[in-house]
Amino acid sequence: METEQSFQAPPGPVLRNEPFRFFFFLGVLVSWVGVGHWLSYGLGVTSTYSCELHGLIQTQGFLMAFAVGFLLTALPRRTRSEPPSYAEMAIITAGLVVTTAGSTLESWRVAQLGYAAIFLVLIQFAVRRFLGAAAGRKPPAAFVLIPIAVAHGLIGAALIAAEQAQGFWSMSLGKLLVEQGVFLCLVVGVGSLILPLMSGYPPPPDLGSSPRETAKAGLYAAAGIGIFLSLALEQSGLNTLAPVVRAVVVTLGLAIGGHSLRLPAKPGLHRRLVWLSTWMIPLGLLVSALVPDLRVAALHITFIGGFGLMAFGVASHVSLSHLGMDALALGRPWPIVAISVTLALALAGRLAADVSDAYFEHLAWAAAFWLVGSAAWLAFFTPAFLRKPPTPDA
Ligand code: HEM
Repeated sequence: METEQSFQAPPGPVLRNEPFRFFFFLGVLVSWVGVGHWLSYGLGVTSTYSCELHGLIQTQGFLMAFAVGFLLTALPRRTRSEPPSYAEMAIITAGLVVTTAGSTLESWRVAQLGYAAIFLVLIQFAVRRFLGAAAGRKPPAAFVLIPIAVAHGLIGAALIAAEQAQGFWSMSLGKLLVEQGVFLCLVVGVGSLILPLMSGYPPPPDLGSSPRETAKAGLYAAAGIGIFLSLALEQSGLNTLAPVVRAVVVTLGLAIGGHSLRLPAKPGLHRRLVWLSTWMIPLGLLVSALVPDLRVAALHITFIGGFGLMAFGVASHVSLSHLGMDALALGRPWPIVAISVTLALALAGRLAADVSDAYFEHLAWAAAFWLVGSAAWLAFFTPAFLRKPPTPDA
């Protein structure tokens, strides 16, 4: 019979050992601010809208909260090292709140300060675990993409903050770096560890365990630099070639490191969804290149069907396997059915908006589907996030 691996929480404070309990919760709330923007405008509750506000909150707030929740939980386990401190978690939380509030008030500099603070804490957290004397294991080769993702984020934040002095190009390139660059690098880099583990394929070996792994690290670094150059090329006007390059790089990275060419070997709806998201990410980039008039709508195949679906799929996996719901991870629990249906409807609404003559009505419907699905997901998982882990004896 198929069984699911259950994670026993190490002894110690629950929140430090399982930071995902808090950060996934916070991430959903932040997504309501970013997506709710279109619902409140569509309903006439607000009279203005901002394209920057929405895109930045979704990527710098919502996606970052999910990424942080995952990394702060997974890195100490992989390296057999100390969990994050309360101070690190508090600064990251403050960073997420400040970046969301700053973008909501369209104060881009403040938002970028909060965002940069998150990365600075993450860097020292990861460096101490991977390079410190106490590090129990080395990271896999694809993790070279994590510092490259951080570089995308910090350069992008600096460019957005410099918008007033430098002009529109600075905001435009900054947005490309933080909205696409950071997560394309993280998806391939971190995906090389989590995707095989989730789908039932062998996890990657440690860096330095063989010359092959060292060579692989070089290839992943080249992929990260390729993503960076393609974003710079897009800014300089190569609107078709540049997203195609990114789509190819990400497809190859996910095929090699994430086993995306094969369906998951284990059952479980969330595994299928994460597998699907690995294809939606490059698909959105490709369609945006081929149909430039519908660029932003097409990019939502990447944003909603790719990044958003992957965030909820991986978060479901982490939550089910850490919170004693292992049997559900092999089936189709209702919150995962709910999130998959509502995200599909949100994507359909977002795509239809640009080809309809009722643009803002479609946006409002798409936003409403997102809110309903993510609220259902949260309603299911929140009681489990609040529950104490069972004691080893129990
Ligand atoms: C679910 C309902 C959603 C709706 C109705 C929606 C709507 C929109 C709209 C109308 C724009 C274009 C603004 C403009 O005219 O420039 C936009 C841009 C953007 N959206 Fe969404 N969106 C949704 C979900 C998401 C999600 C889940 C993410 C990320 C995970 C996301 C990330 C972005 C980004 C990064 C941009 C900026 C793209 C660019 O300027 O290159 N969106 N969205």
